[in-house]
Amino acid sequence: MIRNYEELLQTADAFTDSRTLIAAVEVDLFTHLGKKPATAKEIARKADASPEGIEFLLNALTGMGLLTKSADRFRNTPLSRTYLDAASTQSITNFIWLAGQHWNDWIGLADAVRKGRRPRKRPPPDNPAFRKRFSKALHERSFYLAPKILRPIDLRGARTLLDLGGGAGSYAFALLVKYPGLHATIFDRPAAVKVALAEAKHADLAEQVDVIGGDLFTDSYGGPYDVIFYSNVVHIYSPQENRRILKKIKTALKPGGRLIIVEYFLDKDQAHPPDVSSFNLMMLLFTEQGRCYTWEEVTQWLKQAGFSRFRRTRIDGKIGILEATLGTAQKRRPSSLRR
Ligand SMILES: C[S@@+](CC[C@H](N)C(=O)[O-])C[C@H]1O[C@@H](n2cnc3c(N)ncnc32)[C@H](O)[C@@H]1O
Repeated sequence: MIRNYEELLQTADAFTDSRTLIAAVEVDLFTHLGKKPATAKEIARKADASPEGIEFLLNALTGMGLLTKSADRFRNTPLSRTYLDAASTQSITNFIWLAGQHWNDWIGLADAVRKGRRPRKRPPPDNPAFRKRFSKALHERSFYLAPKILRPIDLRGARTLLDLGGGAGSYAFALLVKYPGLHATIFDRPAAVKVALAEAKHADLAEQVDVIGGDLFTDSYGGPYDVIFYSNVVHIYSPQENRRILKKIKTALKPGGRLIIVEYFLDKDQAHPPDVSSFNLMMLLFTEQGRCYTWEEVTQWLKQAGFSRFRRTRIDGKIGILEATLGTAQKRRPSSLRR
């Protein structure tokens, strides 16, 4: 929320910190620093970069609190060492790379607003190198978010789960840890499921995981499954495309099976929550026909596809979870009558 003149100025300039961080990751600055202090000249040599440029960048990052400086030597802070050094197991350098990709898209915003969506300049979405890094990037975010998002979800009694458009499998893995009796299938583009397989092995979950590499529109999802988890895909596609996918989801679920959609749902006014209407703007730049939808729009598609018993949860005022059951609503019998 921007309330005054100062905040307007800050917003106009907010890209400088973001761009500084992205550039530092692009030249592997935090990785070159690693665990030891170093001078600007030493880092410039390792990065094969201009000593003057590296020195300015190191000083700016020190000002931002991401490095410390003593005499002419710079050092990673514990935060930078943990998240920004590519050698760390908790590194989010792929996610920051993705922010850089989004930056390139955002530059075209005024153009897209004036002239409409433009053909993408980026590699196509099924380009293996792009997809591999994209999957790793989202894993660095979704792995961290998973416990919070999955807290309200109860999968007791379920045996089989499909993580559709599951990317590197972040949510499926978190669910397998929570429900050890569950078996998960991850469906995504071939390059993404390769990352998922490697992550499953890394997390010691390979025995509970299968993958299907394919296209959401043309390939079979396998099944039928007890539960389909579908996170962050709806916004990529048009209403017609989403309805086509929902029809396929229906055939891949057991009767009474559950669909769990995780999405950036808009409120009815389409302007709130603000993080979601801003994300929606990015869809103008990042997708051919995608956008964020309201809870009501998606619920309507689900009703038409034969789902009922809807449950909505909003996490951190931003990410939405819409749960639905395949089949018509049945009145639950009082617990004393259930056997
Ligand atoms: C925004 S990512 C979400 C990944 C993961 N579900 C998460 O929430 O972290 C969208 C995923 O859907 C996959 N996807 C989108 N369209 C697809 C298609 N037509 N066929 C197969 N996978 C697709 C992408 O490859 C990507 O992994």
